[in-house]
Amino acid sequence: MKPGERPPEFFGSSGLKIGVIGCGYVGLPLALRFAECGHHAWGFDTDPEKPAKLHAGQSYIRHIPAEQIQRLVQCGRFSATSDFSKLREVDAILICVPTPLDERREPDLSYVEQTALSIRDHLQPGQLVVLESTTYPGTTEELVLPILEQTGLRCPIPSEAGDQSVTPDFYLAFSPEREDPGNARYGLANVPKVIGGVNPPSLAAAQALYAQIVAKIVPVSSTRAAEMTKLLENIFRCVNIALVNELKMLAFRMGIDIWEVIDAATTKPFGFMPFYPGPGLGGHCIPLDPFYLSWKAREYDFITRFIELAGEINTNMPYQVVEAISQALNRHKKSVKDARVLVLGVAYKKDLDDLRESPSLKIMDLLIKRGARVEYNDPYFPKLHRMRHYDYSRMQSVELTPENLGAFDCVVIATDHSAYDYQMIVDSAQLVVDSRNATRHVTRNRDRIALT
Ligand SMILES: NC(=O)c1ccc[n+]([C@@H]2O[C@H](COP(=O)([O-])OP(=O)(O)OC[C@H]3O[C@@H](n4cnc5c(N)ncnc54)[C@H](O)[C@@H]3O)[C@@H](O)[C@H]2O)c1
Repeated sequence: MKPGERPPEFFGSSGLKIGVIGCGYVGLPLALRFAECGHHAWGFDTDPEKPAKLHAGQSYIRHIPAEQIQRLVQCGRFSATSDFSKLREVDAILICVPTPLDERREPDLSYVEQTALSIRDHLQPGQLVVLESTTYPGTTEELVLPILEQTGLRCPIPSEAGDQSVTPDFYLAFSPEREDPGNARYGLANVPKVIGGVNPPSLAAAQALYAQIVAKIVPVSSTRAAEMTKLLENIFRCVNIALVNELKMLAFRMGIDIWEVIDAATTKPFGFMPFYPGPGLGGHCIPLDPFYLSWKAREYDFITRFIELAGEINTNMPYQVVEAISQALNRHKKSVKDARVLVLGVAYKKDLDDLRESPSLKIMDLLIKRGARVEYNDPYFPKLHRMRHYDYSRMQSVELTPENLGAFDCVVIATDHSAYDYQMIVDSAQLVVDSRNATRHVTRNRDRIALT
């Protein structure tokens, strides 16, 4: 198909072929949403197990029902593959691959780069490519665009003189994913979608496409503005969580209940938004994304002090929990060394089956290094495996019976899963260190609880 045969309005048509690269937490729901809205969605993933599972109608993400996958596979609206040559057949290509930090905590764009190279090898005139992975401002134009233009096809950035008349050979845009896994109220359909195009036709094409699956589109002037928007949102969360974590530590020292204070402040109908303290940041986004911007800022001789400070405070939180455990055991005339400690919740967030960057893993590691005998329970992880930083491959979730709970010197609430019976936990345990205020409704045996 020639570019002229896919003008921007073409992407407002029904029955499009959409390729989503990366069938993870972000890409899979996105592909399924396009399929639900009457398009033909292809999921592409380098991990061959994922297409195989999806074809078998299986889900590997807890909040995505297998029945939905089965239904869409059977009616021919959704399919998955590791064969990237099929990218030639699609109208639009959406990139949802990981953007982690490397060993030196610098942006690791190797997945985005690898994906851009795969697209380059199959790029067709008139295709729309959208990067959705979170990244620093400039990635779409400075990394993805030059690779795609190695094909000889052009997607020109309008010159500063304002020449916007050039028709691109393909379209390129950035639109950040705002997925909040496990959020029952806000999902793909009702969260506005921010979009920036490399040029006006690219923006128009991406707007036409996404308008079919989301209620509201928010166009911005450039891909860089769209990339920065996502980072602002996540840095806002990161900084505010750090602020409340710091105030929590002060409040404890002053004998003030920080959760009571937050609840009271939240009654102000304007100018305040609650953030809650916890054992540290987790997940693939908030602990990592801000450092994409601080890294890029260095190119401009700029130090992002809020990001650095927030990172310092949040990184320290697991250490602070371990210190609280140590003090609580001390009150029971016990030391951390040789204490039996049960950590409740290894997922980074309540009711999720996601371990990425979970502070629970760090707390367990610190306790083990101090000589504690650590075990865990998590309804979503019957056993653990070897990870990049930790080897918990021999650990299995301890059954939560009153007898088992009572056998530990200390029970630590690291993740406040809804499935836990907190009154039973407190009634059965000798000592509970609660980093989430999960025991706020517990009425009996409150003297066994140490909040942190
Ligand atoms: N998970 C979230 O809550 C969330 C929310 C908003 C934004 N994001 C951003 O979305 C992006 C994706 O995150 P995710 O949570 O979906 O990650 P994920 O790890 O769940 O999924 C990524 C998928 O990409 C695949 N993959 C890796 N390299 C590939 C390649 N070269 N070609 C094809 N597939 C490849 C992996 O096998 C995996 O299935 C990241 O930039 C992340 O920051 C995530």
